Formats: sequence, C-alpha cells, structure tokens
Amino acid sequence: MTQHQRLLIIDFGSQVTQLIARRLRELNVYCEIHPFNAVDAHFLEKFAPRAVILSGGPASVTAEGSPRVPQSLFSMGVPLFGICYGQQVMMEQLGGRVESGHHAEYGRAFIAPAPGHTGDGIFAGLFGDGREEVWMSHGDRVTKLAPGFEVIGTSPNAPYAMIANEAKGFYAVQFHPEVHHTPHGRIMLENFVRMAGFTGDWTMASYRSEAIRKIREQVGDRRVICGLSGGVDSSVAAVLIHEAIGDQLTCVFVDHGLLRQNEAEEVVTMFRDNYNIPLIHADRSDLFLDALDGVTDPEVKRKTIGRLFIEVFQKYANDIDGAEFLAQGTLYPDVIESVSFSGGPSVTIKSHHNVGGLPEKMGLKLVEPLRELFKDEVRALGRELGLPDKFIGRHPFPGPGLAIRCPGEVTREKLDILRQADAVFIDQIRKHGLYDDIWQAFVAILPVRTVGVMGDGRTYDYACALRAVTSVDGMTADYYPFTHDFLGETATRIINEVKGINRCTYDITSKPPGTIEWE
Ligand code: XMP
Repeated sequence: MTQHQRLLIIDFGSQVTQLIARRLRELNVYCEIHPFNAVDAHFLEKFAPRAVILSGGPASVTAEGSPRVPQSLFSMGVPLFGICYGQQVMMEQLGGRVESGHHAEYGRAFIAPAPGHTGDGIFAGLFGDGREEVWMSHGDRVTKLAPGFEVIGTSPNAPYAMIANEAKGFYAVQFHPEVHHTPHGRIMLENFVRMAGFTGDWTMASYRSEAIRKIREQVGDRRVICGLSGGVDSSVAAVLIHEAIGDQLTCVFVDHGLLRQNEAEEVVTMFRDNYNIPLIHADRSDLFLDALDGVTDPEVKRKTIGRLFIEVFQKYANDIDGAEFLAQGTLYPDVIESVSFSGGPSVTIKSHHNVGGLPEKMGLKLVEPLRELFKDEVRALGRELGLPDKFIGRHPFPGPGLAIRCPGEVTREKLDILRQADAVFIDQIRKHGLYDDIWQAFVAILPVRTVGVMGDGRTYDYACALRAVTSVDGMTADYYPFTHDFLGETATRIINEVKGINRCTYDITSKPPGTIEWE
C-alpha cells in the first residue's frame, strides 16, 4: 500500500464518484475509491484513512436493505464528509431522519447561509455574495439532524443542505461539490483535506521514486517484458520500469500494419535511440493484413487482430530468457470497481483489444506501475521522466488501429489512402494550434466511392469522414466545433493532396449515441 497520507472514498454508486477522486488528486491528496460493500470494519482498520468521504448514489436510505457504512466508521476519530446519499446515510446511522417523497431537486440551486453562519470550518470562504451556487441531484432529503449537528446552509428544497458537527469533524452536504457546476466545490474539498491534516504529499516526483522502489522490490533480478503500442500509457510504463531495472526490461513492439503514418519509426526511434531501451520491433503487417482479407464484420476484425497480437507477442516473448513478468499500462479508471445497482454484466459494445489473457496463458506475473493513476497523471509522470511533450500529448490510438477506421473491408490500398488523409488532417489541426484542445482526431475512410469532378475530368473515388471529439475520459464525447473555414480548408487539402479521395464529410455525432471510433 502507498506510503502517502490516504483518503478513502466510499462509493455508493454515483455517476460522479470518480470526480471526487479527480478533485482530490488535483489537491495532491492520495485517495482510493472502494465500493461500500467492500468496506467493513476490518478494511477500515487496515486502510487507516486520514479522512473519509461518502459518495452520492442512486439508492434511498429509506429503502430496506439499502447501503450502509460500518458503524465503526463513526468512532475512528477521523474527519468525514458525506455527499448527497453520503449525507443521508450519515444522518440515518447517527440518529437523524431522512424522508422520501419530497420535491425532487435536480440541477442548479442556491444555498443561503443559516442564521448566524457566514461559513466557517470546511465552508470557510463561501457565501461571498450572500449565497452559493451548487448542483443538486436528489429525491430524498434529511428532515431531522443527528445529535451534535448544526445547519450551515439551506436551500428552498433542502433545509439541511450544508451541515456540520465541528467537534467531531463530520460534515455533509446535500449537493455535489465535486462537479464543475458547483463553482466553489473545490474550496469545500480543499478546506476538508487541509482540516484533516493532509499536507499535499501526492506529487509526481514522489510517485516516481516510490514506484521505482516498488518495481525493484517486486522484480528483484528477474526479467520483465512489456508490450509497447506506442501509446502514452505503455510508453510511460516502459520508461519508468527501465529506470527501475535497466536492461532487465525488454519491450516488444508488434507492428500490425495498422499504424498511422511514420508511427512505427517514431516509436522505435524514441525507445532505441533516445532511451536505449532494448526493443524488439516485430514487423508482422503481412500476417495481420492477410488475416483481415475479406473480413468486414467489426467484431471479427477486432477478435482477429486481438488473437494474432497475442500469438505474435507470445512468440517473441518466449525467446526472452527468464522473463517472469509482463508489464502493462493499466490505469486507475480500469481498476475501480464501480458499484452496479442494475446487476448483471453490461452489454459488450465493442471487444476492446489489449493483452488480456496473456499473463495466465504464459504463466507471467503482472507489473502495473500506473494502476493508481488517472490519464492526466500518467502524462504528468511522463513529463517528470523526460518524455518529449509531443509524444506525451499524443491523442489516444486504439489497439486494432486503422482497421476500425476502415469500415468494410481493410485493404492495403485503403490503408495507404487513409494514412495520408489522416496525416493531412492532423497537420491542419496542429497548424491551427488545436491539437491539445482535442481529445482525439482522425479520418475514417468510407466503404463507398462517389462521383466528383476535378479539372475537366470525372472522378470516382473514396469518401472519407473527419472525426474530432472533446472528452474527459473517452466514455462520453462531443464533436469538436471547428470553424467552417477550417473544415473547408481541410477538405480542400485532403482532396487535392490525397489521391483516391474525392469527398470529405465531418462527423458531428456525440457519444452517446455514437461511439468515437466508427467500429
Ligand atoms: P469508442 O469507439 O468505444 O472509443 O467510443 C473510446 C476510446 O477507446 C479507444 N478504443 C480502444 N482503445 N483498444 C484500445 O486500446 C481498443 O480496442 C479500442 N477501441 C476503442 C478509442 O480510440 C477511444 O479513445
């Protein structure tokens, strides 16, 4: 377990629980999210948090069998902060009362200070203009406070919107301080962690040295292999592990022939030339492209690529004597066990391609030095390790590569055209200084030919779609609002510079209902 001061977030299944963790990490506070049903008295003792936050959630404390926290939480002597459902569960378990069936409140609300309070404790610095704007999302509400609590702020529909038991360091709110729509939510969270004695010891420099120590401890004098995709996560993991164990690490970069323009060269140069990290460059494009011949179903494409990737990787890895560990760039959002109230597995939208299945098959143990980090923290760590900014800031790129940007059949001809069009689009975006404002941008080549006219001649070429989205985590996304000038200029450049494309469209679908990739 980490040596940092730790804050525990008990998750009751709110859609925005991860945002609590994000806000705290921004304050250099180390925290972990654990689902309520995994937190018992023993867990609390072992985790030894310096403070605990209870998240919101969809359940009603008035319903039988609804989630609770271990009663021992209230006698640990650590500060608590209950949010929405977290507030209600606190009141219920400490002797207050919560009722359903009142006027539900969703969206923006204003909190007024209770008589005699202008805000102190964790509410210090609020009510500057006499009220606080907050974001509410609740059906139930507290109707009687637990002993020892007092009201700090009220809204028309939540008379106990902000409450505190200063003596015990217990605080609770009916709204969500973690969302951006509560403009001063960050102040409350910051006050809370400072009051709980957090000194902001979660920094990338400290993470780096601690991670290096842990990797050395785990690996000893044995060998590690790392599957490199050229993406930020696996690259940062590889550089970090190399710093820890040097040449005991070998990277395997499987080139499946579905990479973007110059991508393979860039990855190989960075690892071999800049870092001197042992790297096997397995160019197996023919194997992959032959296997994809005639395949049009997106899931079959994904599964074919995933299966071959594992086979190729395994073959090269077997040649590395004494490899006992597989390094992966797993991130914290992949690790968080979200609480599912709907029960049952969620539907498979797309079979994601990763090296899952390999460790058991090959009898390898995992090294996952990024397991505690969010994506932007991985980028910060990459910078700390000296990776070039241009590399760190690269847009995410999916494991199955260009195959899923080529709806219908994947051919070498289409891939060539796609690579060129994609390079022009990205060049345009960089030239206009938009690259860092965009989560991901790419071109998809469509499986239709359309008629055009160039000069005095008729053309009959492929159509393509530009896709550019903003997103926080890839789970939801909005299309990027380019200007018409930008779109016009880009379409002209693609059609003029790329032989084989004579029509260009811009995809303005958000996610949901669309997905970011086309397949
Ligand atoms: P979708 O298309 O599901 O994509 O909206 C969300 C994000 O995930 C990326 N993506 C993948 N990444 N392996 C990956 O490593 C995959 O199989 C895969 N499929 C989609 C996609 O590029 C976007 O960033």
